[in-house]
Amino acid sequence: MKIIVGVAGGIAAYKTCHLVRNFKESGDEVRVIPTPSALNFVGAATFEALSGNPVRTTVFEAVDEVQHVRLGQEADAVVIAPATADLLSRLAAGRADDLLSATVLVATCPVIVAPAMHTEMWLNPATQANVDTLRRRGITVLEPASGRLTGVDSGPGRLPEAEQIADLARMVVAGAALPRDWEGKRVLITAGGTQENLDPVRYLGNRSSGRQGFALAEVAAQRGARVEVIAGATEDMPAPIGARVRRVVSAREMAQAVAEWSPQADAVIMAAAVADFRPAAQAEAKLKKGGDDAALGTLSLVENPDILRGVVRARERGEIPARVVIAGFAAETGDDTHSALDYGLAKLERKGCDLLMCNEVGVGKVFGERRNRGWLLRSREGQPAEVTELQDASKHVIAGAYLDTLNVALGSRLLQR
Ligand code: CTP
Repeated sequence: MKIIVGVAGGIAAYKTCHLVRNFKESGDEVRVIPTPSALNFVGAATFEALSGNPVRTTVFEAVDEVQHVRLGQEADAVVIAPATADLLSRLAAGRADDLLSATVLVATCPVIVAPAMHTEMWLNPATQANVDTLRRRGITVLEPASGRLTGVDSGPGRLPEAEQIADLARMVVAGAALPRDWEGKRVLITAGGTQENLDPVRYLGNRSSGRQGFALAEVAAQRGARVEVIAGATEDMPAPIGARVRRVVSAREMAQAVAEWSPQADAVIMAAAVADFRPAAQAEAKLKKGGDDAALGTLSLVENPDILRGVVRARERGEIPARVVIAGFAAETGDDTHSALDYGLAKLERKGCDLLMCNEVGVGKVFGERRNRGWLLRSREGQPAEVTELQDASKHVIAGAYLDTLNVALGSRLLQR
């Protein structure tokens, strides 16, 4: 892909170096176009070295090449990070007073903008009006992350990590839009694997990376939802942008957190790999292999609560509102008699939830991978489940398709009531 990386004059411009690297390492051709003020933060030489291409900021350089027209026409994507309040305002007004803004006016490819500024500037009605204008015109304006800003301030306005911007930008370029259709809705998502302690140093765990759950959280938040994540063990990843994350360890802790938060949610998504069993006893001191403790040789296990089934039962009993839509995943391996899809459909029925994504798992398949594939199974009142095949795609693209179908399921629950 030919990607234009635009950079505006904010302190977060140093993170753009990682973004350029990320695209280059994926084999993309990158042209960096900083605004003149961005060069106060990172020099042109850095961007030239990282992108392998010349860096220009005004339309009056290399005039014979009519750069703003050529670059804008040839690009497959324009990704601007960071975008300052000033740049958002200039883009919303349709100005063309530097090479970057002129290029955006020419570009017909997807344009993805990642704003970064102080919280007050971000929340200012002028900035928000500019963001609305750009979104209405089909430009993807990402929600900023929350957290530490320059100095001691903290709040929304942080530039997301390079990997997060790149994942979301690639998702948009792949054709998965980020409409604001989840605005005003609350989504609870579990992610990662639970760990069941045996003693202070050992536990039973699983291979879940948490990537699919975090991608769902990130995409739901970008689509306007208020997102709470209950995370077990995950790979080392930045917290999903715009989501509140609570960490838990065991299945029982996760069940407790889900019970607390699900009554306020509109949608509950169980993406966590919950351990089905835990050791019957948890030793206070480390178990010794030569000692009297039989536990190390023969593990005695007891069943964990089925959290997904528990949320469905709570809805049946009226403990959580009937409008809440409940969804999960089905990690299956097929066998001689049944396919993974057969097992997934049986699980949808058994769990009683509204939506399941069924995927075939195994060593090196799905867990920890950045891509996923499978089937979306949506239960329908009095009819066979609707099955939609999802082709191999990034976990962000899969998250987008999952949220599209979940929104349909949410709509039909609201209609039923
Ligand atoms: N799940 C859950 N609580 C459990 C086990 C699973 O909430 N104790 C949820 C998972 O988060 C997932 C769905 O149930 O959304 C299916 O998980 P999976 O491991 O495929 O199924 P199990 O119910 O464990 O069934 P089995 O292992 O027999 O296939």
